[in-house]
Amino acid sequence: MFNNFTFYNPVKIIFGKNTIAQLPKNIPANARIMLTYGGGSILKNGVYEQVKEALKGYDIVDFGGIEANPYYETLMKGVELAREAKVDFLLAVGGGSVLDGTKFMAAAIPSTEGDEWNNIVCGKAKYKTATPIGAVLTLPATGSEMNYYAVISNKGSGEKFGMGNPLLFPKFSILDPETTFSLPKRQVANGIADAFTHVMEQYMTYALNAEIQDRFAESILKSLIEIAPKTLNEPTDYESRANLMWAATVALNGWIGVGVPQDWATHQIGHELTALHGIDHGRTLAVVLPHLMRYKSDSKKEKMIQYAKRVWDLNGTDEELVEAAIQKTIDFYESIGIPTKASHYDIGMETVNEVKKRFTDRKSSFGENADIDGEAAAAILLSSIA
Ligand code: NZQ
Ligand code: ZN
Repeated sequence: MFNNFTFYNPVKIIFGKNTIAQLPKNIPANARIMLTYGGGSILKNGVYEQVKEALKGYDIVDFGGIEANPYYETLMKGVELAREAKVDFLLAVGGGSVLDGTKFMAAAIPSTEGDEWNNIVCGKAKYKTATPIGAVLTLPATGSEMNYYAVISNKGSGEKFGMGNPLLFPKFSILDPETTFSLPKRQVANGIADAFTHVMEQYMTYALNAEIQDRFAESILKSLIEIAPKTLNEPTDYESRANLMWAATVALNGWIGVGVPQDWATHQIGHELTALHGIDHGRTLAVVLPHLMRYKSDSKKEKMIQYAKRVWDLNGTDEELVEAAIQKTIDFYESIGIPTKASHYDIGMETVNEVKKRFTDRKSSFGENADIDGEAAAAILLSSIA
């Protein structure tokens, strides 16, 4: 029997070709907007022009230069600018990093308490208000367009932490698959790996007869497996890109996670790998998940068998199916060009020890059974080195 739950997701999704033109219908006419973006991809692929054209007549201040795995230090510059310019609406145009960075800014702009890292990212203070956000998504991966989470890095301390608050749900997100045609193959692969792993974090736990959540999760996994080669090799194929974009959104908008246990240890270990080595988020997950599945194959056994049967259409003994579940996951990441061995990323014993120390110092205990502590994380990383 699955657990009680409350589901709430107010994000308006505007999906499809030429939808950026709908911006004015969704932003108050007298808004003072800050347009936030990344390192310049939107200036090259025509998205910036489309946004500016749609918002002619609006009062807009630009804040570009938000990097991948956005830094608190960079974002605070945007916060200062928004406060000075008395901005009252944030429009994030870009990938997960731009959306996440903008969510942090939305919480920080009205804050009067200072120390935004500790108060907002580390959650030491409760905030009751946030500047409203809208988004134009250009990279299918994180689900940030339809959830209230953000992941923020700190250059000074070398940390990367997740944060979240229902105040940070975007008011709307525009998803035009054509804006993703300009993505480099590596970023498409990262996005597929991220969405795939988001599903696994909410699915690969223990069974409790949550049929809708399970079959919905399996359908997202199967769709990602099916569309991956086509969308990687034919970037302008609208159908497969549209399917990827919607798959990534529903993988982390809350639907498949209601009432079921969730893991998220792969993400927590992955965030440390990005913080310590600068590895792309999607790639860190491929280094961790298969090895975590092996490490937890006793407690996850039932779901691993179900996954092997229903997602990969395999038959065999329980032992064979458990092994196949791990191998198929490795093969999938590798098939989209993402190596699953730590050695490929120069992750060695120093990193294993540092992750172990960080988790132990913070008394971390992740996973659906709250048993992924420093020791367990080290064991998982060690098996990815072997
Ligand atoms: O910065 P620009 O120039 O825009 O270039 C970006 C960046 O270099 C580029 N890009 C984006 N759209 C493009 C494009 N290039 C060409 N054409 C386009 N249409 O892609 C690069 C990567 O962008 P980024 O936003 O960093 O990637 P992604 O969407 O994968 O976001 C990763 C961040 O999201 C966090 C990750 O930890 C990481 O910091 N996550 C956020 C989550 C959430 N909010 O719920 C959950 C995830 O698990 C994840 O942790
Ligand atoms: Zn992720």
